[in-house]
Amino acid sequence: MVRRNNVHPANARSLRAAAARLRRGELVAFPTETVYGLGANALDERAVAKIFAAKGRPGDNPLIVHVGDLKMLRRVIRRMPPLAARLAAQFWPGPLTIVLSKKSSVPSLVTAGLDTVAVRMPQGLARDLVRLAGVPIAAPSANLSGRPSPTTAAHVAEDFPDVYVLDGGPTAHGLESTVVTLEPHPAVLRQGALSEESLRKCIPGLGRRETSSRRAAGRVGRAGGGGARRRPRAAAPSPAVSPGTKYTHYAPSRPLILFLRKSSLRSYFRSHPSALVLCPNRVSSFFPKQNLLLLGNSPEEIGRNLFAALRTRRKGTELLALAIPRRGVGRAVMDRLTRAATRMVR
Ligand code: TXA
Ligand code: MG
Repeated sequence: MVRRNNVHPANARSLRAAAARLRRGELVAFPTETVYGLGANALDERAVAKIFAAKGRPGDNPLIVHVGDLKMLRRVIRRMPPLAARLAAQFWPGPLTIVLSKKSSVPSLVTAGLDTVAVRMPQGLARDLVRLAGVPIAAPSANLSGRPSPTTAAHVAEDFPDVYVLDGGPTAHGLESTVVTLEPHPAVLRQGALSEESLRKCIPGLGRRETSSRRAAGRVGRAGGGGARRRPRAAAPSPAVSPGTKYTHYAPSRPLILFLRKSSLRSYFRSHPSALVLCPNRVSSFFPKQNLLLLGNSPEEIGRNLFAALRTRRKGTELLALAIPRRGVGRAVMDRLTRAATRMVR
């Protein structure tokens, strides 16, 4: 892999330089425990505008604000409900984003005009950077809008050759944070690296309010039939509660077909032997080695490898993926696969 000159190995010096850039209103890409983020000072509207411009992100898709500690959190939220305090005590720092009522100091650009703000306290290097910067950091995933989220510094540099990137190696989870709201009832808005099962231990009544629009929606078919759409685009309007989830996402550079059953994947592959198969290790014996891109065994491992696989440069006319059980982190994996797929086959 070629090292680009905008990529800087994370160390005390580069962290200080990155924090200074953030304070000056510039963009910095940095690793979190989930995916790489493209950060700017959340309280500086001009800095935040650079994020939307660089990503080509629609203005109605609000950003997550990252805080280093609870004192910084109080600069952006109006109040901390007891349930939010419980969640924070249990899961922060970590891959959980909580939607809370926002203070007026947070520019409406950050929240796309909503009176709520999505906040999280990240782990490790990301938290160190936010604390060094001394300001809350708005950061979406560091990919061009519609592309798979970046899990390495090289992915970020591919999409943003001119942005200062801190390289902290591959990210731990490889999937974005889980987004929850507490109002009017606690509910998951976006599946993510923290499983619903873990959250439910803290919130027994947890519901779900995900947006169902996805690239493959309405294109579920049988093996062999149907065309593939390549261009990501906004889906039909829907009452999106996590606005970003209504946009199509994670689009690989070629068609991706999601198979719900192993048998349909195998039969499709027989007539499309130049395809690249993205699958759990356990089904690898059904396909020639040169056609395989193995994702791993556990849902966690598959989650960690998924976005890099969607960016693969390996040969293959199309990408064929196999569904995994919607349990634990498997739910987030399936959410991303469904959104990335040009169509689904039963
Ligand atoms: O793991 C992550 O969450 C990564 C890292 C960088 O922290 N960030 C990330 O950001 O995935 P982004 O912008 O790609 O996704 C943010 C999601 C979108 O679905 C957005 O609609 C939702 O959070 N969101 C942000 N503010 C919201 C709000 N006030 N109410 C509801 N949903 C909100
Ligand atoms: Mg994103």
